[in-house]
Amino acid sequence: MRRRHFLSQVGWGSFWTTVAAMFAGLARTLYPNALYEPSRRYKIGFPSDFPAGSVTARPEERLFVYNNPGEGIHAISAVCTHLGCVVNRTNEGFFCPCHGSRFDASGRVKAGPAPRPLSWYRVSLAFDGQLVVDANEEVKPGTKFRL
Ligand code: FES
Repeated sequence: MRRRHFLSQVGWGSFWTTVAAMFAGLARTLYPNALYEPSRRYKIGFPSDFPAGSVTARPEERLFVYNNPGEGIHAISAVCTHLGCVVNRTNEGFFCPCHGSRFDASGRVKAGPAPRPLSWYRVSLAFDGQLVVDANEEVKPGTKFRL
């Protein structure tokens, strides 16, 4: 192989490699770098699934659902406002096992490093009759959904 022919081959190889990389980069821009998170609106079941006076832990949705006799239903987040650990329910309220934050039964901070109370989420009724908790929408503590 002559030197001129070899250099010509190297030059064309570099050219086509560059063109291929350019088109690969162009094709990559068609797929955005977005994270698709699951919905934070949860259908949690029918009202009859939550007897009066019950407190139901929903570990998948990380919340507690209360049915207060005569007052209505409310949902409190089980996610600690310090660093996001899941709190446990106690007789006095909630306890975070990670750094020891304590919350009263309505989610107010009683002790520990947690800076804010636990969130209360909006509860509503879907068309099919199931309760819906919208974790995207916080409500004022004490807000209850009446059937
Ligand atoms: S994550 Fe709950 S106290 Fe730190």
